[in-house]
Amino acid sequence: MKKMPKSTVLGTGRATPERVLTNADLEKMVDTTDEWIRERTGIERRYIASPDDRNSKIAAAACQKALAAAKISAEQIDAIIVATVTGDVVFPSTACYVQELIGARHAAAFDLSAACSGFIYGLAMADSLIATGKARHALVVGSEILSRIVDWKDRSTCVLFGDGAGAVVLGPASGERGVLDTYLKSDGRLTHLLCMPGGGTNMPLEIAIAERKNFLYMEGREVFKYAVTAMADASEHILEQNGLTSAEVDLFIPHQANMRIVSATAKRLNVPMEKVYVNLQNYGNTSAASIPIAVNEALEKDALRAGQLCLMVAFGGGLTWASALVRF
Ligand code: ACO
Repeated sequence: MKKMPKSTVLGTGRATPERVLTNADLEKMVDTTDEWIRERTGIERRYIASPDDRNSKIAAAACQKALAAAKISAEQIDAIIVATVTGDVVFPSTACYVQELIGARHAAAFDLSAACSGFIYGLAMADSLIATGKARHALVVGSEILSRIVDWKDRSTCVLFGDGAGAVVLGPASGERGVLDTYLKSDGRLTHLLCMPGGGTNMPLEIAIAERKNFLYMEGREVFKYAVTAMADASEHILEQNGLTSAEVDLFIPHQANMRIVSATAKRLNVPMEKVYVNLQNYGNTSAASIPIAVNEALEKDALRAGQLCLMVAFGGGLTWASALVRF
């Protein structure tokens, strides 16, 4: 029997800081070249927060656009889930700051930590809240200020990341449009490949700063190897579970980490690049924000239209990986 969605996307929004940092700008900051960055990653520019930007402010701006598109008031929102690894403060949650900024007085608000897979994890949680009647309308936001945890002296990581937020409003589904399925995985044996070692209770900030451990750390080559396998696994698994083939998907929205990872995954899945949405050249890797930003842009550009089937797939620190099948 055909699975009917319980929740559907009512509106989407995105927000970015104003400042743009190009590869040419980076050439003046570290020993790198525009050519190296483009060839190895596909990235050309990224948005970078200014000192008075806050994660919650950018997230709230994306939420307000999503609410306007959904024609839903903030007071109708029952849950706010902010997927992030760069929250305003250690606690309380960035979601609570967002709640205050948008005036979502009746919502439960919490953050979710699943690195770059965070948005899909959040989508799965919100879908479950709606499916079980615990919420009618939910905001799922991926929002990051990665520029604040990047080591601007480390050329192997600082060229990769950017800041921004993307949000979706989920509400009850009626008919075939909506979240058809989600698939979540993680492998805690690989925590060391991508992490921020200091600043938590394991290594308090004072010590972390002294040892320069208060920055994002990544074993790029190792992450690369797992990324393609994980994204292919997440895509194949969810398609199989739903009796679908990749040919039936109208648009693939992969996590926008690196063009080589995106193309290798598409090749492995036998998906032509025309059916893969790519915007990483303009944003860099915005972690949890990358997929909702891409969804919003794809809808705006008519690359994704009402009734079409979209497969979102992500991987990130943890390692975590995840996929979602959504009919728009
Ligand atoms: N500019 C110029 N040279 C550089 C730079 C740079 N910015 N960075 C590294 N290099 C040099 C290295 O020092 C090395 O030099 P050497 O050969 O003299 O030692 C050379 O380039 C090759 O380095 P590699 O690390 O082997 O380069 P690789 O081809 O693997 O590309 C990259 C590096 C882009 C980081 C790649 O490994 C990658 O994309 N990994 C996955 C990263 C990723 O997507 N992470 C995020 C996923 S999860 C999340 O989103 C949080």
